[in-house]
Amino acid sequence: MKVLVTGGAGYIGSVTAERLLEAGHEVLVADNLSRGHRRAVPEGARLEVLDIRDQEPLARLMAAAGIECVMHFSAASLVGESMEHPGEYFDNNVTGMIRLLRAMGRVGVGRIIFSSTAAVYGEPGHVPITESDPIAPTNPYGESKTISERILDWHRRIHGLQYAALRYFNAAGASSNRGEDHAPETHLIPLALNAAAGRLETLSVFGQDYPTPDGTCIRDYIHVCDLADAHILALEHLGELEETTFNLGNGEGYSVREVIDVVGRVTGRRVPLRDAPRRPGDPARLVASAERARKLLGWRPQRAELETIVGDAWRWMERFPGGYGD
Ligand SMILES: NC(=O)c1ccc[n+]([C@@H]2O[C@H](COP(=O)([O-])OP(=O)(O)OC[C@H]3O[C@@H](n4cnc5c(N)ncnc54)[C@H](O)[C@@H]3O)[C@@H](O)[C@H]2O)c1
Repeated sequence: MKVLVTGGAGYIGSVTAERLLEAGHEVLVADNLSRGHRRAVPEGARLEVLDIRDQEPLARLMAAAGIECVMHFSAASLVGESMEHPGEYFDNNVTGMIRLLRAMGRVGVGRIIFSSTAAVYGEPGHVPITESDPIAPTNPYGESKTISERILDWHRRIHGLQYAALRYFNAAGASSNRGEDHAPETHLIPLALNAAAGRLETLSVFGQDYPTPDGTCIRDYIHVCDLADAHILALEHLGELEETTFNLGNGEGYSVREVIDVVGRVTGRRVPLRDAPRRPGDPARLVASAERARKLLGWRPQRAELETIVGDAWRWMERFPGGYGD
């Protein structure tokens, strides 16, 4: 299939582009390189440097390439930043979604897989979280993804759009050639690895008094290659799905301290730590029930062990110590 990957120069989009190519699909990447890296786009995929809000050029691009399906990764996705610049987040993520759908409509593309997030659930009442739990985002980032999901659903009802919204928990790990190189980096595993490698002076542990066994927050980490595989399964099943939203996580939670211990074991180095106050809006536990994805997509994470996830991220960092170097 000919697939447009928006945000394919970013972390999850580039790994998915790589796996799409391996599975025999054709890949066109549209990315404005605001946060992505030219070198992350796999050989064999064409990169068009384009902002997805540029509706007309985007429509022309899709028509010329004969695009049949879109995987929509591009977004602004830092929770803290969204609390400072909500307008930018709604513009990029919601205006982006609207313009993308209009461009798709213009050229008759009716299939899309969307990168949603656990942030749509806000502060969950219980774990593991299922897709039918209340949607109550607590920041503009989560709200922008919630609105995007609703926009998609209206297009399904009115125009028969086929879509799947994949709600990722914490993406981590790397493939052999592609990994996480965000600036600024806000994710625990690359930060802890950087601290272990001496590239970061200390790792801040935000909050030590949460109602969890060791007092630190618990999160569900999912390997980026398992996320990519879920996209390919969603693509294969898109026409026959009776549900549209899918949690993607391992169903296992690890505390910040447990992650740091694993980073210490994998790297054989000490992670220098600093206790810091809680960050507002950080829930104590976020753990997915991915039963629906298992049942309807046949998705089985193959790299669920935290050691595997951290080990793959570390190997990538050792191979590419400066990331993509741009
Ligand atoms: N990383 C995670 O743990 C996580 C968790 C839940 C959801 N998500 C979602 O998954 C998606 C991918 O996340 P990521 O970590 O790979 O992010 P990323 O920042 O690495 O990649 C996003 C890419 O989109 C591009 N982009 C941003 N705005 C654009 C625009 N208007 N037009 C064209 N390109 C644009 C950026 O340049 C970047 O290459 C995002 O939608 C994010 O919200 C990520």
